[in-house]
Amino acid sequence: SGTIGILTAGGDCPGLNAVIRGVAKAALHYGLKVVGIEDGFRGLIENRTRPLENADVSGILTQGGTFLGSSRDKPHKIEINGQVTDLTDVVARNYRKLKLDCLVCLGGNGTQKTAYRLHERGGINVLTLPKTIDNDVAETDITFGFDSAMSVATEAIDRLHTTATSHQRIIVCEIMGHSAGWLCLGSGIAGGADVILIPEIPYDLQAVARHLRRRQRAGKRFSIIAVAEGIVSREEAKARAAMDRMARRAAKETRIVSGATGGGLEGVHLVQESVASRLARQLQQLTGVEARVTALGHVQRGGTPTAFDRLLCTRLGTKAGELLAERRYNIMVGIKGAECVPVPLKKVAGIKRIVPVDHPWVKTARLVETCLGDEEE
Ligand code: F6P
Repeated sequence: SGTIGILTAGGDCPGLNAVIRGVAKAALHYGLKVVGIEDGFRGLIENRTRPLENADVSGILTQGGTFLGSSRDKPHKIEINGQVTDLTDVVARNYRKLKLDCLVCLGGNGTQKTAYRLHERGGINVLTLPKTIDNDVAETDITFGFDSAMSVATEAIDRLHTTATSHQRIIVCEIMGHSAGWLCLGSGIAGGADVILIPEIPYDLQAVARHLRRRQRAGKRFSIIAVAEGIVSREEAKARAAMDRMARRAAKETRIVSGATGGGLEGVHLVQESVASRLARQLQQLTGVEARVTALGHVQRGGTPTAFDRLLCTRLGTKAGELLAERRYNIMVGIKGAECVPVPLKKVAGIKRIVPVDHPWVKTARLVETCLGDEEE
């Protein structure tokens, strides 16, 4: 016996409903009560909850999004009348009012950190599951939602090939992933992109242009460039590193340790050319080939999960239900090899798993003559 609460936080992705179903069905099977919390942590603050029975989670396996709703709100950073307020105590109080034994949080990096903070500062039990199309959560081989997003992006790259070749164009396809290149690299390889640019490998514009010119000389009628939304050029990477060094030095001298803000520009939205648009413009100038841009955006997060994700979500969710029945808390359930494994949340919180530059996928891409924006070809 016991009661668990379940919420989905951060950006949504295909597979969230499948995980909720897996957790709830397994938990109910082991005799636990399940409470669904609406719109992420905000629902717990505002007491928007409802009991979940088998019938409530039936028929949702294939549905995209999350039927509970999600938000990016963090309990310790809630804006009330223009003031950022810490509502950790409210969350802890409502957790106790609901007589919860554990709060199950489905989320990406931000949510892992928030959940760990709630455990540490709010004294509540948490269990997390690794959700994100970005695939950048530590201590798991893969996150759920990634495979579904990768297949959407791959199909888009396939479709861009036929139109690019008809018109003899360069098409730059912008792919999500925040500051990690997993989604772009995976779909770029699967879709056979000619150039793949990821944040982990700062690109050299001239190297990309040279690759495109070589393709032209070889009689190729088009080029597809997969770019991750977080890419930086070599020059930008150098400038950023120098600024980081300066900021660290200044912080040391003035003893600013944390809580520094971004120079008073919060809330000011400047209209900027996207990195993909800038790249297309530059490459058109350098090669003389007409270039177009396609930003895939939230299409990558919508729709039904792939078979791979449905299986993964059901495995992770039911494993979580099993661990909850054993009262195993303050862990994340990840995938390692063929197994679903509990890992201490402490090892996950605050750590972003980016693509190591010596990762096998990087070598794979190079061996099929894909340009990664650096010199090694
Ligand atoms: O973390 C998932 C993700 O889709 C990232 O790839 C992207 O940078 C971000 O969320 C977009 O966030 P939002 O949906 O808030 O625009």
